[in-house]
Amino acid sequence: MKINKICVIGLGYIGLPTAATFATHGLKVLGVDVNPHVVETLSRGEIHIHEPGLKHVVSAAITTGNLTVSSHLEEADVFLIAVPTPFHEDKFGEYEGRKYRLADMRAVTSATEAIVPFLRKGNLVILESTSPPRTTIDLVAPILERSNLKAGSDFHLCYSPERVLPGKILHELIENARVVGGITPESAKAGHDAYATFVKGEIIETDTTTAEMVKLMENTTRDVNIAIANEFSRLAEKFGVDVWEAISLANRHPRINILSPGPGVGGHCISVDPWFFVETAPELTPLIYNARKVNDEQPHFVIEKVKLALGDLKDKKIAALGLAYKPDVDDLRESPAIEVVHLLQDAGATIKAWEPFNTKASLKDIDLSLSFDEAVKDADAILILVKHTEFVNINPIKLIEITPARIAIDIVNACNKNIWETSGFTLFRQGDVL
Ligand SMILES: NC(=O)c1ccc[n+]([C@@H]2O[C@H](COP(=O)([O-])OP(=O)(O)OC[C@H]3O[C@@H](n4cnc5c(N)ncnc54)[C@H](O)[C@@H]3O)[C@@H](O)[C@H]2O)c1
Repeated sequence: MKINKICVIGLGYIGLPTAATFATHGLKVLGVDVNPHVVETLSRGEIHIHEPGLKHVVSAAITTGNLTVSSHLEEADVFLIAVPTPFHEDKFGEYEGRKYRLADMRAVTSATEAIVPFLRKGNLVILESTSPPRTTIDLVAPILERSNLKAGSDFHLCYSPERVLPGKILHELIENARVVGGITPESAKAGHDAYATFVKGEIIETDTTTAEMVKLMENTTRDVNIAIANEFSRLAEKFGVDVWEAISLANRHPRINILSPGPGVGGHCISVDPWFFVETAPELTPLIYNARKVNDEQPHFVIEKVKLALGDLKDKKIAALGLAYKPDVDDLRESPAIEVVHLLQDAGATIKAWEPFNTKASLKDIDLSLSFDEAVKDADAILILVKHTEFVNINPIKLIEITPARIAIDIVNACNKNIWETSGFTLFRQGDVL
């Protein structure tokens, strides 16, 4: 299909790089967001999220006039939905005593409703938001058909999962293989043509529900694999084994790839998406459910490690290094590091946190330092919760000069035990020999 103009709805971590990339590849793009702060920031040529290279691409796209932003939709050839799909904080389902979380599809519903007045024959609508199986067919298509146009015959409808890695979004958007599921083969072909504007990786056509499942299967596999790594770390401590050594030896097997234990699983995707399977088929998903439970409980094991290192936590001052949900990103959503900080505070500790990628975040109940030095200067202990490159590169010889702390607790294998201990620290690592 011939595409001149595309309307991208939702300008966050996924929608904004996608909108800017379409624009720098010659399309007219209208980016739409319900958050006035987002629209206002982007209109000034600034960006509201941290992603390497993004500011440059967005300002290039805005300068050429190809990217404009607004709070309101307009007619376009293609509508692409990239709005959040979190879970409800306060609504749960239950199956045989297993309480599970429910997807909050309100943003997808309202973004789809907003398209209806502008939908014309021959248009293409693409849902990119990660969604429970059959969302495109059961939720999105019926709303769009309120326009009196029929999905698959009057307009094309696709689901295409986004698989980019935060920190490398602009590169992966172009280079990754992309799955495009169409409500009909013709819709899949139209979706293929749209992404071919900039995607260099293979574009594979399938149906919408397969494409929805692909995304959920990818993230659920990672969640289950991290859960087993977390369980291995608990077992290693019980048996006096260094889990990091054991994992690296097991991974010498040509068909084994054990992931890393940590403080839990966070972010907008891996800690959320498995619930979309559980919600749609609780009777078929005991393993997925239990993996979620293992990862959700992991922050409590971190607290046990900290208590082992420091004894009673009451009035202990701890420098918590890293609040993001994973290394080298600013994203704090669903972060287990934040949950660890809250649990430490509940146990009476005083926490000064340092998150180098998000120094201005306003976090309820968390004292965020303005610098690394400020976070460590009065600490009784250093607690590393995220494997940011900055923390892997900490020189403990220099650190010991600016902190009274002599105990370090490393939850993510960021520290070299020998170097830290010869520098004067006692290092406790998660999954370490006790
Ligand atoms: N962030 C990732 O790494 C990633 C990776 C793959 C898939 N996803 C999926 O992509 C989707 C978007 O995620 P994100 O990380 O970009 O979210 P985000 O929160 O960063 O951005 C979403 C944006 O949508 C806006 N929005 C909400 N409702 C809207 C509406 N009705 N109309 C217009 N704008 C609206 C919000 O204001 C926000 O700016 C989610 O389903 C997520 O699971 C995210």
